Amino acid sequence: MDITMELRKFVAPEIITGIDARLMIGRYILHFASKKPMIVTDKNLPSLPWFINIMEEINKCVSEYCIFDQVTSNPRDYEVMQGAEKFVSEKCDLIIAIGGGSPIDCAKGISIVSTNGGDILEYEGVDEINLPGPPLICIPTTAGASADVSQFAIICDTSNKVKKAIISKKVVPDLALLDAVPLMTMDSYLTACTGMDALTHAIEAYVSNAHSYLANVHALEAIRMISNNIEEAVKPNRSVYTMYKMMLGSLQAGLAFSNASLGLVHAMAHSMGGLLDLPHGECNSILLEQVIEFNFDAVVERYTTIAEKMNVETKNLDQNQIKDRLLEKIRTLRTHLEISSFEEVEGLDGEILDKLAQEAMEDPCIVTNPKNVSKEEIKEIFGRVLQRKQT
Ligand SMILES: [Fe+2]
Repeated sequence: MDITMELRKFVAPEIITGIDARLMIGRYILHFASKKPMIVTDKNLPSLPWFINIMEEINKCVSEYCIFDQVTSNPRDYEVMQGAEKFVSEKCDLIIAIGGGSPIDCAKGISIVSTNGGDILEYEGVDEINLPGPPLICIPTTAGASADVSQFAIICDTSNKVKKAIISKKVVPDLALLDAVPLMTMDSYLTACTGMDALTHAIEAYVSNAHSYLANVHALEAIRMISNNIEEAVKPNRSVYTMYKMMLGSLQAGLAFSNASLGLVHAMAHSMGGLLDLPHGECNSILLEQVIEFNFDAVVERYTTIAEKMNVETKNLDQNQIKDRLLEKIRTLRTHLEISSFEEVEGLDGEILDKLAQEAMEDPCIVTNPKNVSKEEIKEIFGRVLQRKQT
C-alpha cells in the first residue's frame, strides 16, 4: 500500500457496536442530560418490534419527546425545514435519528438549521456551517449509507431537482449505536442496493485523491468484508451474524469515505438521483462499472489492490486483463444481487443529459476523483447507462 505523507485529518463519532446496541439509548439520553429529544424517522419503522424496544428505553428516561416522521427517501429541503421548525417550537434538546440514510441526513439538516437558522441549501459545500448543532445520536437500520459516522449530509434541492452535498465536521454525529437486529427487517433488494452503496463508498474512498493511511485501512477492509458477505446477506435465511458483518463493512466504508471523500460515481449518482428521483444504491451500482472503466488507467495499482481484496486473481495479468476481471467481478455481483438496470428513461433528450452532466460537474465529490473528467465525457457515460437497457 502506498502511503501519502501529505497532511490529512480523520474524524469519527463515538461508536458502539454489538447486538442490542440500540438499547443503550437510555444511558446516552441521561449522558446528554436531555429533557426532550426529537426522534427523526420514517413512517414505516415505528411499528417494528426492535423500534418499539427503543421507545421503551426512551420512555424510561424522559417524560416527553416528539417524533418527526415526515422523511421520504432522497430527503427533501422542505422536510428539513419542517423538522427544524418543529425542533425549535417544541423546545427539543437532542436528536435521535432512527433509519437509513434518509432520516439520518434529514436529522443532520434539522440540527444545522435549528442552530444556525436560514435555509438548509445555504450550507451546501465544504465547511459552510458555523455553529455545532444539538447532540445527534444515530441508530442506522440499513448497512450502506453510513451517514451515522460520516461528515456528509445529502439533501434534495426540490426547486432545481438536484441533490446537494453538505460536508462538514459539524454534521458528524455524536454517537452511532450500530446494531444488526434492525438490519434483519430489510428486504433483500434494499440489502443489495445499500450494500452496493457501501462497496462503492469504499472503492471511491480508496482511489480518491484525498486518500490517507487511516482511510485506506478502513476502505480495504470494507471492500473485503462487503464483497465476501453481500451475496449471503440477500438470502431469505441469512443470519444475524452475516448482517453484523455487513454492518461492520458499511461502518469501515463510512469511516473511509467520510475522510477521503468520494468521486465520479457519487457526483453522477447525486445528479441522477435528484433529477430523476432514482434510488441512490441503484444509481451507484450501475455507474460503478462505467466509472472504473473510465478511471482505471489513472490509478492502476490501487484498482489492482481492490481487485485482490475482492478475490480476483491478478498474478501475471496485464493492466487491461486486470481491469476486465475486476469489471466482470462487479458485473457478476450486481447480476447475482438482481440489481438489473434502469428502464429507458422517458423523454431523455440532449437538454436533460446536459443538465445531468452540469450538476455532476458541480458536485463536491468530483473534486477527489482520481482522473480529470470533462462534461462531454460525463454526458457520454450518462447516455450509456440511461439510454440502453442493460441486463
Ligand atoms: Fe452513497
